[in-house]
Amino acid sequence: MEEPGKRPREAWGSKLGVILAVAGSAIGLGNFLRFPVKAAQNGGGAFMIPYFISFLLLGLPLMWVEWTIGRFGGGFERSTAPGIFETVWKKNRFIKYFGVIGIFGPTVIFTYYTFIESWLLGYSVFALTGKYAGCTDQGSMAGFLQAYQGLVQNEHFSSVGTAYLFFLITFTVNILILCVGLRAGIERVCKLGLLVLFAFAVVIMIRVVTLGSPDAARPDWSVNNGFGFLWNPQWAKLKEAKVWLAAAGQIFFTLSVGFGVILTYASYLRKQDDVALSGLTAATANEVAEVILGGSIVVPAAFVFFGPQGTTELAKGGAFNLGFVTMPLVLQHVAFGQFFAFAWFFLLFIAGVTSSISLALPAIVFLQDEFNLDRKTASILFAFVTFNLCQIVIFFNGQGALDEMDFWGGTFCVVVFALIEVILFAWVFGMDKAWSELHSGSDIRIPKVYRFIIKYVTPAFLLLVLGYWIVQEGWPTMKLENVPGEKVPFVIGTRVLLIDLFALLSFLVWLAWRKRGRKESAA
Ligand code: PHE
Repeated sequence: MEEPGKRPREAWGSKLGVILAVAGSAIGLGNFLRFPVKAAQNGGGAFMIPYFISFLLLGLPLMWVEWTIGRFGGGFERSTAPGIFETVWKKNRFIKYFGVIGIFGPTVIFTYYTFIESWLLGYSVFALTGKYAGCTDQGSMAGFLQAYQGLVQNEHFSSVGTAYLFFLITFTVNILILCVGLRAGIERVCKLGLLVLFAFAVVIMIRVVTLGSPDAARPDWSVNNGFGFLWNPQWAKLKEAKVWLAAAGQIFFTLSVGFGVILTYASYLRKQDDVALSGLTAATANEVAEVILGGSIVVPAAFVFFGPQGTTELAKGGAFNLGFVTMPLVLQHVAFGQFFAFAWFFLLFIAGVTSSISLALPAIVFLQDEFNLDRKTASILFAFVTFNLCQIVIFFNGQGALDEMDFWGGTFCVVVFALIEVILFAWVFGMDKAWSELHSGSDIRIPKVYRFIIKYVTPAFLLLVLGYWIVQEGWPTMKLENVPGEKVPFVIGTRVLLIDLFALLSFLVWLAWRKRGRKESAA
């Protein structure tokens, strides 16, 4: 029965709709920029071994865990981690505070992800208007990017103003979609967006694959060798623990698991909706977009024009370098290059939007669920807070604020959160109940080995990753070991803000629960 004064819950329009929304969240900048760079840096074809092992032992199990406990919590009208965790572990008074991570992490990532997303919108426009056409080498194209970001001033941009304008547009687009709601906003945008994204990605992939070897003087700078460069296995790399860590990190990031966003999407399913096949389908769609499309664009394209040595250097420069500097240069050399460059940046922009809306949702839904706000008010409140946080990313870009947010929101929180989720599922629920929950209404039966994997292997693997990672990266980062002196105040400032945000969210949880407790004892 519905409580008086309580708003009716939203719901997905169709089964395909929710799969596409999850796929939209998963398919993002990570697939097209982060993946190829990680693969090239970590052993090429050999990287695919830890990558697929991580997919099977971490990614897929966590995908199922999130879909299942998300739907379970949704049955009690709880849509975000604090509430959902409590429906799983009713007697624990503290578990809701661990759930705060599932709102905090996505909110932090949202603040820098939308800024990067806005560069893509800007570059889509520049590709069409020919604004960077005068930049014909690495140095000048990199200078263009830096001036756009407001890091330097040159003939292209004299301030961060243009970037700010594109940021405002991108931010507004995100908030508008969220205001419109689940079915009419998110579901519709993801359906259309994925279609456009796949179409553009296939067009660009075909263009890259048919590049041949355009430079007659260097016949071995061919696209075939470009694929060889990316995929030939360097087996020795498998002995390095950091390669395994990179693979596990990529799996989390690309599948959007371990953040809390899929929990929220799944909470709007009905009790009898399938989760097993849906989770598998969304994960598979992401892997196709990542390995086939993402793996066939930036690295082979860079190889054809810059050769093996050049590409190695470029990959060392990171994902932004390949995406914003190398790709536009490469596409200047092909017929209809302006169109292809537009397609490249716009496809990334769309991939970004369908991901960033999923990052915003947990915080918004938390306000809706726990404080009975309507969708619009909650979205505007969220916009107010994150808009202010974004200013740090925009104006302190280059001072380490972005990296700091990525580290806490995108790496640390994820491993911890994933560990909590899997323990709740396999140990608190208990594997018997968990397995039957996962299969209720399901269209497939998952192989039995996954009972064992989810109960023992996934948690053990996560503990290993967490422990190793704390020693290797966590500890030095906490002690600010690799931060140059002049950036230290900014990094500490960012940290203080992040702690404030976490404290604010924990306080809101405390407040909401107190209110709820009062209401329940009055009833
Ligand atoms: N999966 C997205 C990508 O590949 C990023 C993301 C992470 C989105 C976590 C939502 C939550 O770019």
